[in-house]
Parts: sequence; C-alpha cells; structure tokens
Amino acid sequence: MKEPAPIDRLTALLADDLAQVDGHIKDMAASDIALIPKLITYIFTAGGKRIRPLLTLAFAACTGTRNPRGHHIELAAAVEAIHTATLLHDDVIDESPSRRGRTSAHMIFGNQVSVLVGDYFFARAFQMMVRSDDIRILEVLSGTAAIISAGEVTQMIHSGDAALTQERYLEVIRSKTAVLFESACAVGAMVTDAPQASCEAAGIFGMNIGMAFQLTDDALDYDSDVQTLGKPTGHDLLSGKPTLPLILAYQNGTATEKAFWQKALGKGNRRDLPRAQELIVKYEGLEHTRALAQEYSQKAIESLPLIKTSRPEVIDLLADLARQISDRRA
Ligand code: IPE
Ligand code: IPE
Ligand code: MG
Ligand code: MG
Repeated sequence: MKEPAPIDRLTALLADDLAQVDGHIKDMAASDIALIPKLITYIFTAGGKRIRPLLTLAFAACTGTRNPRGHHIELAAAVEAIHTATLLHDDVIDESPSRRGRTSAHMIFGNQVSVLVGDYFFARAFQMMVRSDDIRILEVLSGTAAIISAGEVTQMIHSGDAALTQERYLEVIRSKTAVLFESACAVGAMVTDAPQASCEAAGIFGMNIGMAFQLTDDALDYDSDVQTLGKPTGHDLLSGKPTLPLILAYQNGTATEKAFWQKALGKGNRRDLPRAQELIVKYEGLEHTRALAQEYSQKAIESLPLIKTSRPEVIDLLADLARQISDRRA
C-alpha cells in the first residue's frame, strides 16, 4: 500500500489537537447576528487543508518544554482564522467564483457581507490570540496581519503589469503568503518557551515553505492538467495577477508575445488562456517556477537541524512536508 502523504501523516498525528482547533474556530464564528456564523460555517465546512494550524501544532509538539501555558491550540485556531479571513477578502478582490470546491462565499452572500464577515473573523482571531498572554506572540501575529494586507495592496497596484520584475513578485508573495507560514511556525515554538535559536529556525522554515507554497500555487494556476484544486485554474491571468510563470514568459518573449501579454493580462477573457499556456510551456515557465519552489523547500529543510527537539520523528515529518509542498499537484 502507498504511504500516506506527509500532510496526512501530520494530520493523523495531531488529530486530537486539530479537533480542538476546529472547536475554537466554531467559537470564533459565533455571533447573535445569524448571517455571520452562517457565512463562516459555509467556508469552513467546505474543508481546506489546515496546513497553517498544523504547522503551529507541529512546532508546539516538538520544541521547548512542552507548552507550559497550553495555548498552542488557541494560536493555531487564530492562525487559521486569519487565513480564512484573507481568503474571504481575496476572493472578492480576485472575483473568484469557487473556493474549496464550492461556489465562493461572495457569490452567494454578496461582496459587502463577505468583506465585513472577513473583518469580523480577523477581529475574532485577535481576541483568540490575546489569550496567549505573551506580548512577543501578539507582536508577531499583529505584524503579520499588517504585512499580509500591505502585500495584497502591493499586488493590486501591480495588477495588469506584465513587466513586473521577479524580485518584486517575490516580495509580494513573501508578504501575502510566506509571512503567515513563518508566524504559524514561529509562534508554535514560542508558545513552548523554546530557545531563541529554535524559534528563529522555525520561522525560517515557515518563511521558506510559504514561498514554496505560493510559487507552487502559481504554477498550478496555469497547469492545464490540474482538476482537483477546488478553485478555478487560469484565474491569475483573468484577474490581472502577474505571477512567475507569466513573468518569465514575458521577459523572454518576442515583441509580439509581449504585446499579447499586455493585452491579455486582466482582460478576463478565457479565450486568451490556451495561448498563454502555450507561451508558458515554450519558455518552461512551470518548470522554472517549480524549480524555484524546490530551492525554497530545500532551504526550509536546512533550517530544521537548528531546532532543539525531543521528537525527531516530528522534525522528519516536517522535512517530508517541505518536499511535498513544492511537489504537490493539488
Ligand atoms: C490558499 O491557501 C491561498 C494561498 C496562499 C495560495 P490554501 O491552499 O492553504 O487554502 P486552503 O485553506 O487549503 O483552502
Ligand atoms: C493568495 O493568493 C492570497 C492570500 C494570501 C489570501 P492567490 O490569490 O493566488 O490565492 P488563491 O489562488 O486565490 O487561493
Ligand atoms: Mg485569489
Ligand atoms: Mg492562486
């Protein structure tokens, strides 16, 4: 029989903790205003990989003095709530029709309600994280929330800009995605009072797998073979988002090809997609993007030996997870 994927093995290992995380998320969704739990339950019961809370729980499980204050569950729940709030906002901004295999919340409840409930969920995440009673953790997570929003604004400023540089693109994905992975890992170590070096290494691991995660997501968006994402493919082109596969094809393209990209990016015309995919194949955009993701996964793995642990088997699983992230097909 085939061995389960690392994320499934970690999920099984931490199943009890994860069930408690889901309980806290239900609490955060609670409100007398019935529409609020209705919308949050809608996006939550659709699933989601829970990769960020899994990371918080995994680092809490393998570092430090086994969590003297016992707040790892609340922090993992807060991290997932921040993520979910950004997804609610992101799908409004991207006008994306599906998420987690379902019609996007904004298509059902409307843009305004989606944005406001996203804000509510953000605020509830902050209430949850305050319970950790650790000012360093609050500093990390509140800083992260600000960076994510700034990253989304920067991305919007560059909407439709096919000439975006690779450097600037990497800054955007660092802000909008990798920083939350970094914090998810770092606070897992911090809540156990792990040594400073372990907390830093956990953060470096998270940052690098976060970069690998978004690069892979951006490759998958153009991967015509992918049917299992639970969200639309080809949507980055339609919504005007220049990502690495496109940036590489643009930079290496002929004048005619450059003109095509400038015309197609953000025009929302599905008919442009086959040509876009063809040009990305011509310049090996997906291979290069995936190769860069693998480099980040490798860097993540190199940070793991710096973590002081009594549970090397969890560290090994995290290394496997880092590999899975840049190899994933769904
Ligand atoms: C989607 O994140 C947003 C990105 C950073 C690409 P996930 O792929 O982790 O979404 P869920 O939570 O599993 O649905
Ligand atoms: C991730 O970027 C956005 C967030 C960090 C919320 P994408 O826009 O690529 O995410 P998906 O593809 O919609 O999940
Ligand atoms: Mg999106
Ligand atoms: Mg995407």
